[in-house]
Amino acid sequence: MTLYNTNELDAWDRDHLFHPSTHMAGHARGETTNRVIASAEGVYITDVDGQRSLDGFAGLYCVNAGYGRTEITDAIAEQARKLAYFHAYAGHGNEPAIRLAKMVIDRAPEGMSRVFYGLSGSDANETCVKLVWYYNAVLGRPGRRKLIARLGGYHGSGVMTGSLTGLPTWHATFGLPLPGVLHTESPYYYRRADRSMSEEQFSQHCADKLEEMILAEGPETIAAFFAEPVLGTGGIVPPPAGYWERISAVLKKYDILLVADEVVTGFGRLGSNFGSIHYGLKPDLMAVAKGLTSAYAPLSGVVVSDKLWRVFEQGSEKFGPIGHGWTYSAHPLCAAAGVANLELIDRLGLVENAGTVGAYLKQALTDAVGDHPMVGEVRGEGMLAAVELVADRDDRVYFDRSLKIGARVYRETLARGVIGRAMPNGDVLGFGPPLCLSREDVDVIAGAVRGAIEAVAAEL
Ligand SMILES: Cc1ncc(COP(=O)(O)O)c(C=O)c1O
Repeated sequence: MTLYNTNELDAWDRDHLFHPSTHMAGHARGETTNRVIASAEGVYITDVDGQRSLDGFAGLYCVNAGYGRTEITDAIAEQARKLAYFHAYAGHGNEPAIRLAKMVIDRAPEGMSRVFYGLSGSDANETCVKLVWYYNAVLGRPGRRKLIARLGGYHGSGVMTGSLTGLPTWHATFGLPLPGVLHTESPYYYRRADRSMSEEQFSQHCADKLEEMILAEGPETIAAFFAEPVLGTGGIVPPPAGYWERISAVLKKYDILLVADEVVTGFGRLGSNFGSIHYGLKPDLMAVAKGLTSAYAPLSGVVVSDKLWRVFEQGSEKFGPIGHGWTYSAHPLCAAAGVANLELIDRLGLVENAGTVGAYLKQALTDAVGDHPMVGEVRGEGMLAAVELVADRDDRVYFDRSLKIGARVYRETLARGVIGRAMPNGDVLGFGPPLCLSREDVDVIAGAVRGAIEAVAAEL
C-alpha cells in the first residue's frame, strides 16, 4: 500500500534508494510507505503532497531544537563560506569545534575533560570501545577486553556497535555479536519474569545477574559496561528504582569502566543536560550525538573523563600518537551547527521545557489510554514516553507478534496526523518529540493515540 503518492520520485526511490531498516523486497514492490518529506517547521513536517504531521519522534529522537531554526542554518552557511573543512589531525583545529568542546564539557557531569568528535552515534560507541582497550593496554592489562552490554540495549549498527546492541534483528544474519561481547539482564521492569518483584527487588536482581556474569567470566577479563541511562530503541524504558546505584556499585567493585551511551539522553531530553546527571552516574566515557546538533548536521562525540585522559597522555608518551581518527572528526560545519544549537537550547530554556512538558506528556498519555484494556503500561521520563500494548493487561499477555499491533497503532496514529514510532522490540508505541513541544502539541498527540488504539482494538 502506498500511503501518499506514486510520482516519479516514488519510482526512482523504489528503484535506486537503499533505505535503512526497510523490507527491501516489499519496498521495491510498493508495499511499504514511501513518504517523501519536503519541509518542516517547529514540530511539524510536511511531505511532497502537502500532508502535515506532528513529529512526535523528532526524526529519530534527534531534532531536539525543532525544525526550521534559522539560527542553526545561518551558522552553518556562514561557516561554510569561511571554512568548510580542514582536518583535526596532529593538533589542527577550528574555532567552532574548539568552542563546542568547551560548551560540552561545561554541561557534562563533573570529572569529564575532553571531547573526541565523530559523525554518528555508532562511530562514537566504536571509539569508546577502542579507548577502553587503549586504556587497558597503557595500564599493562591487555587481558581486560570483554564488553558487557544489556539485552534490549541499542548502541548502533556497526560491526562492534551492532554486537553491543542487544536486539536479535541486529545480530541474526550478520553472524553477530562478535566474540567477547556479552549481554546481561535488561532493566525492563514491566517485562520481568517474576511479577512478584518490586522495582527495588528487580534492580537488585539485575545487579546480581551482572555480578554473576562478571564472576563467571573472570573480572580480570572484563573491560567495560555499556548502557543507555534510559533504554531507548529497546522500548523506551526508564530504569527501575535503585537500578543505577546498584549497577554502579558492582562496576566499582570489579574496576569495570562505565560507558554511558548518551546518544539519545544527552543535551536535555530527560530534562537534565545528561542522563548521567539525571541519575547520578559517574561515567568514564560518554557517547553523544543526535541532540548535539539537533541533527542539522551529523556530529557525534566521545566525552572523556579526566581519569582516563591522564592515562591516555601516559599512553602517547609510551606509544606515540594514538592510531585513531576520522577524516571528518571536528568538521567545522557540523561544529558550527552544534554551537548554534546549544546556544539556542539555552536561550529558549528547552532543557527545562523537556522536564515540564515531558511530565505533562506522560500524564496526558496516561489519562488518555492508561486504563485501556489494550494498554499494559504508559511510561516515560522527560521528553521520552512509551505505551506498551498487550492482549491482556491483567495477566500481562503479549500479542502474537505476527499481528503487528505496534505497527498498526503507529499507522492509525499517523492517520490522525501524529508521528510516533513502532519500537522494534515488542508492541510499543514510542515518543521522543522535539524539546520545544508545547502542552497543546501534547494534547494533539494524546488524542491521536487514544483514537488509534480504539481503532485497532475495534478491528481485533
Ligand atoms: C542510544 C543510541 N546509541 C547509538 C545510536 C546509534 O546512532 P547512529 O544511528 O547515529 O549511528 C543510537 C541511534 O538511535 C542510539 O539510540
